[in-house]
Amino acid sequence: MTRVFFDNAATTPIHPEVVQVMTKSLSETFGNPSSSHSFGRDAKGQLEESRRTIAKLLGAKPSEIFFTSCGTESNNTILRNSIKSDQISEVWTTPIEHPSIYQTSNQIGEVIPVRFLELNPNGSVDIDKLEYELAKAAKKVLVSVMHANNEVGVLNDLKAISEICHKHGALLHSDMVQTMGHLPINFQELKVDFASASAHKFHGPKGVGFMYIRQPNQINSLITGGSQERGYRSGTENLASIAGMAKAFELATKNVDEDIIYLNKLRTTFMTKLKSSFPSINFLTKLDESLCTIVSTIFPPEFDSEMLLFQLDMKGVACSGGSACSSGAAKASHVLAHFKLPEACKVVRFSFSKFNTEQEIDFCIERIKEIANERGQNC
Ligand SMILES: Cc1ncc(COP(=O)(O)O)c(C=O)c1O
Repeated sequence: MTRVFFDNAATTPIHPEVVQVMTKSLSETFGNPSSSHSFGRDAKGQLEESRRTIAKLLGAKPSEIFFTSCGTESNNTILRNSIKSDQISEVWTTPIEHPSIYQTSNQIGEVIPVRFLELNPNGSVDIDKLEYELAKAAKKVLVSVMHANNEVGVLNDLKAISEICHKHGALLHSDMVQTMGHLPINFQELKVDFASASAHKFHGPKGVGFMYIRQPNQINSLITGGSQERGYRSGTENLASIAGMAKAFELATKNVDEDIIYLNKLRTTFMTKLKSSFPSINFLTKLDESLCTIVSTIFPPEFDSEMLLFQLDMKGVACSGGSACSSGAAKASHVLAHFKLPEACKVVRFSFSKFNTEQEIDFCIERIKEIANERGQNC
């Protein structure tokens, strides 16, 4: 059966060249990077080479890159532990962050004040309002704003936000899990203080990620023990995955400008064809304000909102949904709740990678037509 994978914001297929690098590392470079003998030194060499590769591609210093187990760990570490080491007295974030920031912020809110920033209707941060509030802030603030939202794809202007933060003495963290490897990023120009990334979102392995910590910022370690990663993250490094992540990042960033053009063309084709077949379908994602990989689609109530994802899956289309329904069993995600959509419509996120094709778009739209016909829709 033909199957198409349009859930690349959840995870991406691993690149075959990444598998090769990992397999070689697993079988040949099995030493512990902390051991002083030659096996350990080989492993340490690969670890540091991976760090240099990632740092160089980001315009960062190798000593500013710290390996972790995932984006969630990076977000938790930075949020929870920068506030301990940097005399930060307040955290300001958005109400539509990934749960690894949103829930963590709610917990931090039991210890220090946490403020949820005002957003524009499209979900991006209201920059003027942020500047106005920061200018009045009496305490040192950590601002945490995601680069692109994982459910609707809306982008934040991190450059402008970082300038405002620094003008008013605040530090800026960005959850860049959705944009790392998908947009050109250079930390010499984009002056965030902290950033989080995850390899499986850019055709690398699952269970590995990294933090960027601009010098001279510091954090405490979330995981204590053997003081690996220069004391910022204890635990023997997942070397094969780290080497795989470095390879994946190299491949992801190689032709990133061409990939963006290709993906935007793919998204436009998808949206145009879907809209022309089903005029009642709308989009939460606005093409010119969002990441090139995501299309968040609002299906009208004529589609069976409870069954739609299941029906698509049965027909070979993998995508994902947060429900915008305020009725029934499905609960709106905190992100979709922000957009206050009409009841009973269904939001489906189609998310693409550079390996998707226009034929797959056509296949998907044909399957949606079948679903509509089976329900006897006049779409
Ligand atoms: C924006 C964002 N942040 C953080 C994460 C968590 O990353 P990980 O799966 O590596 O823990 C995700 C994953 O979906 C994400 O989309």
